Amino acid sequence: MMEIKGIILAGGTGSRLHPLTATVNKQLLPVYDKPAIYYPLTTLMLAGIREIMIVSTPADLTAMKTLLKDGRHFGLSLHYQTQDRPRGLPDGLIIAEKFIGGNPAAMVLGDNFFYGQGFSALLAKSAGNAETCHVFLYSVKDPSRYGIAKFDADGRMIDMIEKPEKFVSPWAITGLYFFPADAAQRAKKLKPSKRGELEITDLIRLYMGEGAVDAHKLGRGNVWFDVGTPDSLLMASNFVEVIQNRQNILIASPEEIAWRMKFIGDNDYRNLIGAMPICAYRNSLEATLTA
Ligand code: G1P
Repeated sequence: MMEIKGIILAGGTGSRLHPLTATVNKQLLPVYDKPAIYYPLTTLMLAGIREIMIVSTPADLTAMKTLLKDGRHFGLSLHYQTQDRPRGLPDGLIIAEKFIGGNPAAMVLGDNFFYGQGFSALLAKSAGNAETCHVFLYSVKDPSRYGIAKFDADGRMIDMIEKPEKFVSPWAITGLYFFPADAAQRAKKLKPSKRGELEITDLIRLYMGEGAVDAHKLGRGNVWFDVGTPDSLLMASNFVEVIQNRQNILIASPEEIAWRMKFIGDNDYRNLIGAMPICAYRNSLEATLTA
């Protein structure tokens, strides 16, 4: 099986979060006790992906590198690439084409947060079938904000509409996509939409035309947030706080997940924890050693 490469799109101006984002990249803002980028990063890790490229603005990459370094301490290989201006999500695949190098690729938006029982198993299953494109759907109250799936009478996804003005369905296409090996080449052939950007829905539609899309509905008991507005940022933070403190677990810790996925060994894990300042995050990681 070919190794799946990961891409995290962590650029953007974060305009909907101004003035929070006037000096700090959206992906580095806190979702409760961790930078937002830890959440999509660990989503890729749970899919078994260890080679990951982070795409961001030239101004923000330095801070990202300070935070995540070369990834070796998480048993990962992290790469960084700049995107001078947003040209749409498929542009991430074009930027990362060399890095992808003819492998399948999973792309996740840096502000997306997934959590739920069974989600890791779904990720592993999707990663195991790299011949098709996988998208993950989530029922939302405000479909006009997202790319939305359209279904036929038999419940098969037949189309996607980006930010529909009229109601199509409540099923939003979340910001996590698994693509077969030819995604970058296909992305290069896309034409910009009316808003002047390449659209991810146009790329997925190409695979749909060949019957090569698996649309996974995330049901009750799963959460998905994009933390792109003050309300969703707070909602995601509150959610993490409640689950972590009630169940005494950590959500989306790259250290813990690297250890549990066996990307790093027991000693590496202990050393990572030992090198941290005394803080609540360190205490929670220490608790995993004896749980
Ligand atoms: C993007 C995609 C949209 C998707 C959303 C998920 O929208 O274009 O299809 O539903 O991410 O977060 P944007 O956040 O760029 O408006």
